Amino acid sequence: MLATYLRCFLNHAGNRVGLSVVLTVVVGVLEGAGLVVLLPVLELIGTGGPRASSGLATGLADVWQAVGLPLTLPVALVIFIAFMAAQIALRHTLDLLNAGIETAFTSRLREELYAAMVRADWLFFTRQRASDITQVLTDEIQRVGFGTQQLLAGLGLAGVALVQASLALALSPVLTALALGSGLALALALRPLTRRAYNLGKEGQERRADMAAAITEHLAGLKVAKSHGREAHHLAHFRRVLADIVAHILDATRVYATTRAAYELGAVVVLSLFLFAAVRYAGLSTPELLLLVFIFARLLPRLAALQSNWQRVMHMIPSFTAAEQLREQFIAAQEAASPPMMARVAVAGEVCFDTVSFRYPGVEGREVLAGVSLKIPARQMTAICGPSGAGKSTIADLLLGLLRPSAGRVLVDDAALEGERVHAWRASVGYVPQETFLFHESIRANLLWARPEATEAELVAALRAAAAEEFVSRLPQGLETIVGDRGVRLSGGERQRLALARALLRQPTLLVLDEATSALDTVNEQIIQQAIERLHGELTLVIIAHRLSTVQNADQVIVLEHGRVVESGAPGELTRREGGAFRRLMSAGLDLP
Ligand SMILES: Nc1ncnc2c1ncn2[C@@H]1O[C@H](COP(=O)(O)OP(=O)(O)OP(=O)(O)O)[C@@H](O)[C@H]1O
Ligand SMILES: [Mg+2]
Repeated sequence: MLATYLRCFLNHAGNRVGLSVVLTVVVGVLEGAGLVVLLPVLELIGTGGPRASSGLATGLADVWQAVGLPLTLPVALVIFIAFMAAQIALRHTLDLLNAGIETAFTSRLREELYAAMVRADWLFFTRQRASDITQVLTDEIQRVGFGTQQLLAGLGLAGVALVQASLALALSPVLTALALGSGLALALALRPLTRRAYNLGKEGQERRADMAAAITEHLAGLKVAKSHGREAHHLAHFRRVLADIVAHILDATRVYATTRAAYELGAVVVLSLFLFAAVRYAGLSTPELLLLVFIFARLLPRLAALQSNWQRVMHMIPSFTAAEQLREQFIAAQEAASPPMMARVAVAGEVCFDTVSFRYPGVEGREVLAGVSLKIPARQMTAICGPSGAGKSTIADLLLGLLRPSAGRVLVDDAALEGERVHAWRASVGYVPQETFLFHESIRANLLWARPEATEAELVAALRAAAAEEFVSRLPQGLETIVGDRGVRLSGGERQRLALARALLRQPTLLVLDEATSALDTVNEQIIQQAIERLHGELTLVIIAHRLSTVQNADQVIVLEHGRVVESGAPGELTRREGGAFRRLMSAGLDLP
């Protein structure tokens, strides 16, 4: 997975990463160079002439004289300032460059994931914890960004270390090779700890997903939780999740701290051994020795920092993996692409279910629908009835192309509802689901969401047709009223009527109402009945309902039991059929005339 991450990152930002590394090295060199220039000059000024102790100082004095600069403190300081200014300016550029690389990369990951999510089919989401998706899109990708910063910093460090190491190599190849070798051996010895970082990263990702789920689910079920007095249970659960996260963070910190300590201790031991060997066997002169010590004293901490950067990159990889896996799952569940130009479809003849069976994947042996054949004639009203769990909403999902039949076909005017056609079809239908959903926005925005180009007159007409005009006009802010999260500031019936108005605004060729009047009182139900009556004959209506009053005007009723059609016909005829399924259903609800 590390390889996948690196490939993905370098593909995205390869050139700029190269630039960033080069800049880091230049910054590192300038930082050293400023001091290297200043120190010998100070030394020369101190000793009062070019009889300084170190060879570097005399060499520099020669350069100094060749250029024709006076060997004075102000000149040396100005040059020092110039070096530092260049370094500071470059570091500033580098910071911006790195931030740009990181944010562009994480934005792209987020956007690609979101785009894949939008194209995934409905079936996928019936099996998915929504909070997991939110968590990956927000927090986990943020972590990928953090790990990417670490990688960039690490690459820079590596560049600087490389320059330092080559300098040291020029001075003393054997000793440097030995020192680098020991550094590498140390890193290898600590490899198990680096691998732990990966596993810890994975664990952390799961813990954080649990926390996100605990928050989201509590908020979604807040009302039930409050009314059942289950807040304490939720709080206790959240505390457990938090405790897990704390334990995880401490674990991770311990591993990092241990690795770092082990590395630093190792480095000190290596450095000492090294000094001993240098003096005893290599017979280096004191200045050479000092220079080497100086270089290694800087090189080894860099290697330690590099090691810790690396560990943090490994810690991040599981977050990247989670995002990648989710994206792959989305892609695997992808619907046919939606064409750029979509002509609306109008049902001219009929929508037809041709021996349609459906089962949810992973639910073995149980067919939700088994060989359902039915016809929904254009511009007529078809009612679908049946006990709870019979498969009515599943039929609606198939009708909208949200689900695909496991066997059989759904045909719109003799053409199968598949591939690109699904999008054109969905652009042409209206749907009021069993559980309505409104956005936390104004009523107007909620309506226009369905058809942004609708005129004011069309808005009012849709509200009127859905028996919502009166209650909306009574609201102090009318159409500008904010409905609250999911519409909590409205009554259930008001929500249903707005959802119906929203569907009507689309002027659909087919309108599917799944229990759309279940939350309405008799008066409002009658108003909607009348509205539906007016639509009757204009568009194709599919109404899923329990109440006889809702279905009595239908042209045909289809009765469903255990995923099979058990009866169909005109409502009057079915009502009279002694012992029939429809009669049983309606008499159970004491809804018979
Ligand atoms: N995501 C799912 N995964 C597995 N099984 C499901 C899923 N959704 C629904 N089912 C099952 O499919 C069957 C039919 O469900 P459906 O929602 O179509 O019933 P319904 O007739 O609309 O019932 P109701 O009148 O209660 O709304 C039910 O037995 C249900 O348990
Ligand atoms: Mg249902």
